[in-house]
Amino acid sequence: MPASEASLEVQIREATYDDPLCLSVLAMQVFLDTYATQGIRPAIAREVLSGYSEAVFRGAVTDEMARIHVAEVSGHLVGFAHVTLGAQHELSPPGNQSELLRLYVQEPFVGQGIGTMLLAQAEAAAAQGGSTVLWLTPWVHNHRALQFYKRRGYEDYGLTQFVFEGESHDNRLYAKHIAAAPSAA
Ligand SMILES: CC(C)(COP(=O)(O)OP(=O)(O)OC[C@H]1O[C@@H](n2cnc3c(N)ncnc32)[C@H](O)[C@@H]1OP(=O)(O)O)[C@@H](O)C(=O)NCCC(=O)NCCS
Repeated sequence: MPASEASLEVQIREATYDDPLCLSVLAMQVFLDTYATQGIRPAIAREVLSGYSEAVFRGAVTDEMARIHVAEVSGHLVGFAHVTLGAQHELSPPGNQSELLRLYVQEPFVGQGIGTMLLAQAEAAAAQGGSTVLWLTPWVHNHRALQFYKRRGYEDYGLTQFVFEGESHDNRLYAKHIAAAPSAA
């Protein structure tokens, strides 16, 4: 039965040292589905192979400022959220900022609440890490993501650029105030 027809049992957990291989491949797949909308060219191929390699994710899961949560269905990785605690952006509203660096759900599993679950976990992790603002930079042509974040309380704070391989792409700066987790007494 296709994923969209099944009632899914989704497990959300923190990423471990065993996850980088699958995180890398899932991220490459979702990146290409989302951004390689006109096919593959050398700049995109180099970006995906260098920016989403297993080694990059091995570094991420050991980064003390990273909070990565994965979504699994039947023991298979279907999505993840990656927060970088303390990352600042000049357009973000003031506060203790963190970045939602990536929120990726594999295409057969979208529209079933997994993105919402991962986003809630990312916000909780950011708050737990002392943040009061979570920001991200979605691509202006990623209308599904723009709607998704707007419906979950994210506001638009302006235009920013994503630069790679000498190319510049328009992104928006979206941010949301999140409640800081109470500190332990
Ligand atoms: C954007 C993205 C993360 C959303 O993830 P998702 O798993 O589809 O998100 P959800 O299923 O929680 O919510 C999407 C829609 O599904 C529907 N939905 C939510 N829960 C549902 C459920 N339990 N059952 C059925 N449908 C549901 C809702 O209609 C929701 O729409 P809404 O925004 O109007 O509320 C996902 O599309 C994605 O990974 N896209 C590619 C990568 C990307 O663009 N990432 C963001 C970059 S900034």
